[in-house]
Amino acid sequence: MRGEKAFILDEVRRYHKEQEAGKDFVPGVTEIWPSGATLDAEDRVALVEAALEMRIAAGPSSRRFESLFARRLGRRKAHLTNSGSSANLLALTALTSHTLGERRLKPGDEVITVAAGFPTTVNPIVQNGMVPVFIDVELGTYNTTAERVARAIGPKTRAVMIAHALGNPFEAEEVAQLAEEHGLFFVEDNCDAVGTTYNGKVTGTFGDVTTVSFYPAHHLTMGEGGCVLTSDLKLARVVESLRDWGRDCWCEPGRNNTCLKRFDYRLGNLPHGYDHKYIFSHVGYNLKATDLQASLGLSQLARLDEFTAARKRNWRRLREGLDGVPHLLLPEATRNSDPSWFGFVLTVDPDAPFRRAELVDFLESRKIGTRRLFAGNLTRQPAYVDQPHRVVGDLTNSDLITEHTFWVGVYPGLTDEMLDYVVASIKEFVGANG
Ligand SMILES: Cc1ncc(COP(=O)(O)O)c(C=O)c1O
Repeated sequence: MRGEKAFILDEVRRYHKEQEAGKDFVPGVTEIWPSGATLDAEDRVALVEAALEMRIAAGPSSRRFESLFARRLGRRKAHLTNSGSSANLLALTALTSHTLGERRLKPGDEVITVAAGFPTTVNPIVQNGMVPVFIDVELGTYNTTAERVARAIGPKTRAVMIAHALGNPFEAEEVAQLAEEHGLFFVEDNCDAVGTTYNGKVTGTFGDVTTVSFYPAHHLTMGEGGCVLTSDLKLARVVESLRDWGRDCWCEPGRNNTCLKRFDYRLGNLPHGYDHKYIFSHVGYNLKATDLQASLGLSQLARLDEFTAARKRNWRRLREGLDGVPHLLLPEATRNSDPSWFGFVLTVDPDAPFRRAELVDFLESRKIGTRRLFAGNLTRQPAYVDQPHRVVGDLTNSDLITEHTFWVGVYPGLTDEMLDYVVASIKEFVGANG
């Protein structure tokens, strides 16, 4: 006789099929989202199975995901978090740990980053009392260059923290070399670029510490979620401690005495034998994810190659379809890279006979979703205007991006029909207004 669980999970598969039926694309009516999760019946099953087993906190799926994902990205350790922003916070904060001795980052240290990007690549710098040093990016790739990073290195520079722009990698290998030559830490924000390669190596392998986001817009999703990866075992311990309340103990949930010295430590000013489970060696957070999230992550991970191929295919279709359209700067892959794209970025020529707002309004009226290149020039955002920072060179391109750039989707949920409609709509608008 079939078990109750197998019966329920089969019903879930049936339910999923029912939900997905009749979702035909109707141009101008169906939403063409710029990003979104691509979820199948097995994703739904994975979530329900975790719920049936009441795995409501971190547990076996979390450990399994961490181990498989670390292997997949060629790093020794991965730690799941509740978001990519938390992963960034942990990655940089780990570099302030007392366990790093004199090398540790301190308040007032400068960290080089880019002006045009996502705020939570930069926020951990400010949150740790350090000073962001903003540099500009290039148009077309929307990344900065190793040369710009090199020019920004000053006497107080102690780290570099940069994200790959919308799946397109920055010159991470050269930046890693610069970091090594100058004794800087390198935090690589890989939140938007899982599956991308640069110089034949996958992104997320260049930084001392790297991060990933599993928000639905990203290459893999857990609903909410993120990950910190490193091959430095000492740093990995610090990340885990900071993620898990700052505790010194590294027992898995539900385990005791992994270190075999649970009641035998003397740390801080505590009495000898104070329970190691309650000894705190860092001023930490609780940024853990749950097994519900990790279970979804595991079923998504099985489809990473498929997702990567679809993102590349979709981007190429838009790129080829829009080739030669006047007044628009089309995106370019960074030299020596093979991006797993997050979005398709367009910059309206400042001298074009139409404005970005007009093109965006036209696309949105046809249910074609658009997004800005995140915050644009961050230094112009209300949260940052009064934050201590340094700018090296000018931020001309970041300003141009703020005023003239937007992106449309390439995520695997988009069909050829949808992408062709995006191309046709852009061409129609430019034809009528150009
Ligand atoms: C480059 C980059 N870093 C970090 C994040 C933050 O990830 P999360 O939304 O999971 O906090 C994002 C979000 O999209 C991002 O684009």
